[in-house]
Amino acid sequence: MASLGVNIDHVANVRQARRTVEPDPVTHALLAELGGADGITVHLREDRRHIQDRDVELLRATVRTRLNLEMAATAEMEAIALRHRPDMVTLVPERREEVTTEGGLDVVSQVGRLGAMVERLQAAGIGVSLFVDPDQAQLEACRAAGARWVELHTGRYAEAGWDAQPAELRRLEEACALARQRGLRVNAGHGLTYQNVEPIAALSGIEELNIGHTIVARALAVGLTQAVREMRALIHNPRNEPLFGSRQP
Ligand code: PXP
Repeated sequence: MASLGVNIDHVANVRQARRTVEPDPVTHALLAELGGADGITVHLREDRRHIQDRDVELLRATVRTRLNLEMAATAEMEAIALRHRPDMVTLVPERREEVTTEGGLDVVSQVGRLGAMVERLQAAGIGVSLFVDPDQAQLEACRAAGARWVELHTGRYAEAGWDAQPAELRRLEEACALARQRGLRVNAGHGLTYQNVEPIAALSGIEELNIGHTIVARALAVGLTQAVREMRALIHNPRNEPLFGSRQP
């Protein structure tokens, strides 16, 4: 059964829309934990568009589950991670002009550089995960870079229409099996919603799902604690059937 990492970046997005003090992602991390979040995830972006340095510092001091820091593989971010020592660092690609993370990290082309960073972070006692597409060459490169975890990018599955979704699900299933054969532990996330999460949650071998936007959106209606409870219930008891395929006439 996969655990649930709740990404609270979008709480910070609302705050930064006015550059004020509310809503506070630190308070909301606690509300997510009360709803059963197994971990809290934040992405400290180079442009600080949502999560701020002060959030990471306060979350490190207050999160009682696990803190997963998503970040680009830069010297600035590495220094921040080494200072705050989150439980996990997830290295992600980052482009200033993107709305959200697009595509996985290209580990193949930078095994040496990433491997050195992975080693330094792991030596400091921080777990390191690499966010990659469900692609054999990328997974082999993750292993070569010395990472112990990967996070499989579920964006293509999430964006696929009902006819293409089963193939994307299979790709994720095969990637998960391959990663585990190679000794890697597997998380997954991006674009997952209350509507599409169940087939992913039913895949064996995925340890944690990182989910943000849909939970924060639902929280506007029911509050974050309840929104997390609802997502947790779906992940813990998923219908094991293709969502869209089975519903077509
Ligand atoms: N995992 C990673 C690596 C991400 O970059 C993001 C988005 O910040 C997520 C998971 C969560 O994606 P979403 O907000 O679409 O649930």
